[in-house]
Amino acid sequence: MHDIVQQLENKRAAARLGGGTRRIDAQHAKGKLTARERLELLLDAGSFEEWDMFVEHRCADFGMAEQKVPGDGVVTGYGTINGRLVFVFSQDFTVFGGALSEAHAEKICKVMDQAMKVGAPVIGLNDSGGARIQEGVASLGGYAEVFQRNVMASGVIPQISLVMGPCAGGAVYSPAMTDFIFMVKDSSYMFVTGPEVVKTVTHEEVSAEELGGATTHSARSGVADLALENDVEAILMTRRLFNYLPLNNRDRPPVRRSDDPAERLDTSLDTLVPDHPNKPYEIKELILKVVDDGDFFEIQPDHAQNIVIGFGRMEGQTVGIVANNPMVLAGCLDIRSSIKAARFVRFCDAFSIPIVTFVDVPGFMPGTAQEYGGIIKHGAKLLYAYAECTVPKVTVITRKAYGGAYDVMSSKHLRGDVNFAWPNAEIAVMGAKGAVEIIFREDKGDPAKLSRREAEYKARFANPFVAGARGYIDDVIQPHETRRRICRSLVMLRDKKLDNPWRKHGNIPL
Ligand code: HXC
Repeated sequence: MHDIVQQLENKRAAARLGGGTRRIDAQHAKGKLTARERLELLLDAGSFEEWDMFVEHRCADFGMAEQKVPGDGVVTGYGTINGRLVFVFSQDFTVFGGALSEAHAEKICKVMDQAMKVGAPVIGLNDSGGARIQEGVASLGGYAEVFQRNVMASGVIPQISLVMGPCAGGAVYSPAMTDFIFMVKDSSYMFVTGPEVVKTVTHEEVSAEELGGATTHSARSGVADLALENDVEAILMTRRLFNYLPLNNRDRPPVRRSDDPAERLDTSLDTLVPDHPNKPYEIKELILKVVDDGDFFEIQPDHAQNIVIGFGRMEGQTVGIVANNPMVLAGCLDIRSSIKAARFVRFCDAFSIPIVTFVDVPGFMPGTAQEYGGIIKHGAKLLYAYAECTVPKVTVITRKAYGGAYDVMSSKHLRGDVNFAWPNAEIAVMGAKGAVEIIFREDKGDPAKLSRREAEYKARFANPFVAGARGYIDDVIQPHETRRRICRSLVMLRDKKLDNPWRKHGNIPL
């Protein structure tokens, strides 16, 4: 018995050592933690239950039979984050560069399958050279098995990816299908083809960092949701995000008690919106003053900044917040902001998270770049997402709600449950200037007359009462009471039930 125990300990020690101290040192020298160190930080102390520590690859080609490391380059299992169950896999770059073999993929699939059976999220820590080259098609098959599970889990359990090293080629498509991607600056990259291939095919010279680093994807492409400074920050932010989310699509998001009173008034909001309609203001100030304890977890803060999305809590309950941001492009909806917000709205809807929308939108962005880029189809994504979603929807129009964008931004007509407007709101087909230039074209040569017309139009339409008269706005509220009114609405909506008609699935304009 003693020998067997010793053998077990030896195997465990070998697995823990991964690719050996030299490679661990190299990992540290790059400023990266090892797969196990990352899990230690991610999970509650002592909660990790490891599976498949003794799994080995089955490849005999290219001398691989002599190179076996127990665990085969990925650490898998489950544990807790603040006491709540989560399944994890963490690729070990010190073992064949974290490359994915058939056995490595089977380990990932096993935790994903179990997570689906018990209804708990999966967090994947990616740090891998891609398909295990020695295994060929077996490795490609392994990837596809993971992809299939990512798709089946989508909308059933939250899936979060941390990209903490290389993630290239087809391997990018597993994180791409998860709900959130966090990347680490200067040590992670994601691309379908690397700089060498790019150079050969398109003759562009670009570094790995420029092509697919954390900054590129969090600001430019929108593939990543956050770019963090280092592994530790990425992991701590993942724990924070996890605290907002339910375990699965039948669970409710956790409630975090707060001493912040639901009735709290904030008089500074009464002067947030400048008198001049074209003067911008910081919509995040409103968000921070409305949510519990000023605690807002922004998603994609560096991408499509004309719309702000993220999680907050109201009376302890998680809410998803979507807000036009007048500071950037006057808060217009364009291709990127529509896609960003649409995906977020659908995530919230899939996981029973109520949506609070703050509207200050002058319309859709004009221009050939937008039209040629397909703003019609991409703008429709946001419209579709709001229209199909059945979670509680509370909307506050803080200033402009013009044209089609008024309809899109969680309007009453798209089954908005409670729609408020601030007294200065302007709900109209378009701004007064544009409107009179069209309907009073004959007065073009008479600026005095035009400006009188403009004033008339403003008085008639640039207010919330026309919409209020039709019941499109449930109430016109004072800015300082915004938190109180949203909180009450959300309590009223807590047991909301609304079903869409049965269908295999809709056909969102992709
Ligand atoms: C097997 C691999 C490997 C791989 C790296 N290694 N990638 N082993 N299969 N794909 C091994 C290396 O041989 C090395 O072993 C160790 O991992 C560390 O690699 P280094 O090259 O020393 O590290 P570094 O300089 O940091 O470079 C990392 C890297 C590079 C950029 C990822 O290793 C690389 O380019 N690898 C190949 C990437 C690739 O072409 N993968 C296949 C892509 S196709 P030793 O023993 O020296 O420590 C693909 C398709 C997926 O992934 C399709 C899904 C549908």
